[in-house]
Amino acid sequence: MYEIVKREVVAPNMIFMRFKAPKIARSAKAGQFIIIRVDEKGERIPMGLAGWNKEDGTIDIVFYVLGTSTSKLAVLQPGESVINIAGPLGTPTDIQKFGKVICVCGCFGIGPTLPLIKALKEKGNEVITVVEGRGPDFIFWIDKLEELSDKVHVLTGCDKKGWANDFIEDFLASGKKADRIFIHGCPFMMKVCSEASEAANVKTIVSLTPIMVDGTGMCGACRVEVEGKTRFACVDGPDFDGHQVNWDGLVLRMRQFIPAENKSLNIWERDNWHKFIINPLNIPKSYKIKQTADNDHAGACISA
Ligand SMILES: Cc1cc2nc3c(=O)[nH]c(=O)nc-3n(C[C@H](O)[C@H](O)[C@H](O)COP(=O)(O)OP(=O)(O)OC[C@H]3O[C@@H](n4cnc5c(N)ncnc54)[C@H](O)[C@@H]3O)c2cc1C
Ligand code: FES
Repeated sequence: MYEIVKREVVAPNMIFMRFKAPKIARSAKAGQFIIIRVDEKGERIPMGLAGWNKEDGTIDIVFYVLGTSTSKLAVLQPGESVINIAGPLGTPTDIQKFGKVICVCGCFGIGPTLPLIKALKEKGNEVITVVEGRGPDFIFWIDKLEELSDKVHVLTGCDKKGWANDFIEDFLASGKKADRIFIHGCPFMMKVCSEASEAANVKTIVSLTPIMVDGTGMCGACRVEVEGKTRFACVDGPDFDGHQVNWDGLVLRMRQFIPAENKSLNIWERDNWHKFIINPLNIPKSYKIKQTADNDHAGACISA
């Protein structure tokens, strides 16, 4: 059993959780992930490591509440436990002294970007961080990112600055140099940001999130096509060259179980709806969704 020692709603539907897991904390490295099973009937869900503390023996994750497993996890409180955590899994991010590095993150990807920036700074890199979100309330931990980065740019798509891919395009088109780009976030953001850096040929590393089962290279569930070859994201990744990923194939595979996932969530919610009333996900009722014509990236800007 792995005890939850801290839980915080960091943005609407987005939860930070800290677990007691001393063995994982001792060997974790930037870019790695864990696989959590919430209870004895639970599926195995991968989560990027958003931090760890060797002395306290704790590990951190940030997750977006999406379907059954993340909902089950979201309603747990400090003092309660999950049945199993496997990790650290995956190949750590290749961290070298690159020079000037752009770290792009959004949604739950803000979490794993923190240890990445820390590791890049320890190697002597200059780090520009670009954070993307559908509105100011969906962006969290700016203070932590600012503390670690040389410069932080916040983009909500609702003003002239556009989205993270616009930032990369403008940055590189203006003749400024970047030696490497790292991206953590949803597949769509990783795809368009990779496209934005392709013309300037800046190596762009994305952290892929295909469906995983065992997380150790045995089941084949997480296969992705990179450079025309089949790779297993759990052992060969999750980091890959964003210019070489077959994005359409990745998204198709990630969507293959949606009908079953929806059915599962409906059944779980019918029995457990009251748990979200006791532990709300802090979505203010006053939220207004503003559709913008040129805003096919995230579909809408959300403001309080
Ligand atoms: C290496 C890696 C790191 C990840 N890190 C994070 C993170 O830090 N924070 C975060 O919020 N999410 C992360 N994810 C995605 C997370 O695992 C899924 O959102 C989660 O499994 C959804 O489970 P669910 O039952 O709540 O939703 P479901 O209703 O089961 O699924 C909703 C969607 O989530 C994806 N998904 C479902 N099951 C899995 C699975 N076992 N593995 C991967 N994707 C799945 C699918 O696209 C699916 O359509 C990561 C995924 C991978 C592979
Ligand atoms: S999750 Fe089974 S091979 Fe990667």
